[in-house]
Amino acid sequence: MIVYTPIDIPLRVPDHALLVDYIENNYITNLQSTYGYTSLLAGIASRTPVDDWRNANHVFSDSSYEQTDNPVLYFPPRVISLFPELIKLLYKLPYKQVLGAALSLHTKYLAPHDDDTDTNNPSSPERYNILLSPHYGQDSFFICKEVDGPRDYPTILKDYPIYAFNNKDIYHGADPVLDHRVIMICSGIIDEEKHRALIARSVEKFKDYVIQY
Ligand SMILES: [Fe+2]
Repeated sequence: MIVYTPIDIPLRVPDHALLVDYIENNYITNLQSTYGYTSLLAGIASRTPVDDWRNANHVFSDSSYEQTDNPVLYFPPRVISLFPELIKLLYKLPYKQVLGAALSLHTKYLAPHDDDTDTNNPSSPERYNILLSPHYGQDSFFICKEVDGPRDYPTILKDYPIYAFNNKDIYHGADPVLDHRVIMICSGIIDEEKHRALIARSVEKFKDYVIQY
């Protein structure tokens, strides 16, 4: 099973200082007390209206993977003008409907874990993330077959910083990087046909970096 591949969509990432500044001024303040998540997270898109982008209960009020009739996305103030390339990218990923997206500023060790299961059961690797800081050749993000087993540190490419990994059948985590490692986390209802085509194209192009378990 393919559990990791870089994705064949080039992306010029936003200015790093701008990203860090945005997250430090807009992160969700109650994330640790609600979800136990220690990184700083700032929501930048949601399919449901959000009254308070700094409150996890508002940002994550809709956890369903069911498609709705109204595929509108809502954004916090200034996000479209600050990060147009990231918003455009959301519409290029193989989703039938985007559920949401967030910027994450890594702060502490993230122990191996798996994520919530997408009830539509998309084919692996189904989670799309983007490395937005210059931590290419990174030794932070890792995947492992067993929770306490040996870890693989996938190669993330500078010109193709979007990657897909399996977030439900295996484990993933991150070693501490204290110099402002930023990723974008995307969530959506996978369009299986488009997703498979993109993964197949990406695996062929980046075969040297693909990881299979
Ligand atoms: Fe996770």
